[in-house]
Amino acid sequence: MAVEAEIDVELLKSEIKKTYASVSEEPEKDFIFPTGRAWAEDLDYPHELARVPERAAESFAGVANPFSLGRLEPGERVLDLGCGAGTDSLVAAQMVGEQGHVTGIDMTPQMLAKARAAAAELGATNVEFVEGEAERLAFADESFDVVLSNGVIDLIPDKDAVFAELHRVLAPGGRMQIADVTIQNPVSEEGRRDIDLWTG
Ligand SMILES: C[S@@+](CC[C@H](N)C(=O)[O-])C[C@H]1O[C@@H](n2cnc3c(N)ncnc32)[C@H](O)[C@@H]1O
Repeated sequence: MAVEAEIDVELLKSEIKKTYASVSEEPEKDFIFPTGRAWAEDLDYPHELARVPERAAESFAGVANPFSLGRLEPGERVLDLGCGAGTDSLVAAQMVGEQGHVTGIDMTPQMLAKARAAAAELGATNVEFVEGEAERLAFADESFDVVLSNGVIDLIPDKDAVFAELHRVLAPGGRMQIADVTIQNPVSEEGRRDIDLWTG
């Protein structure tokens, strides 16, 4: 049976939004996952992290470093799927430069508000942040050269829908630089139904 049939996806989304609204609004709190600039530094983020404003970096909640798969090239068009408060988007915006463009999408409005404020503080004009859901992207076919995503797809039950959308919006020859959590063994039915296990 598909995972989406086993859990209440709308309830799961509302719990995820609550969790990440809190990461956005109370970044000093202890979460069950690591957060903040020091965590990104531990992950060996590229030097562009230093210029990412604190209001974004303090709410960084990635699981690994997608730039360890390679730097982005000047002029590239980038989608940051589940951008959160915008750390990866703002690192990417510095790498692709004025000829490039970064679009961050996320479903949690509090995260997007921080990302937009941080972009303004950095003076980055080649980045925009859009509210939306990863399973239904409001972008034209073949409109990006690179997809970045960090700690997002593991939170989404319908992974086939996400990857179908990513393949649709990537231009031919495009690439995905995804940092995420994977598992080696099947999760029990009881585990799959436990919303608390999904939200972290
Ligand atoms: C673990 S945080 C990572 C945020 C950011 N990538 C970072 O590295 O700091 C996961 C983010 O994914 C977003 N998210 C989760 N499910 C989503 C979905 N179906 N569509 C869009 N965003 C989603 C959450 O709102 C949250 O901001």
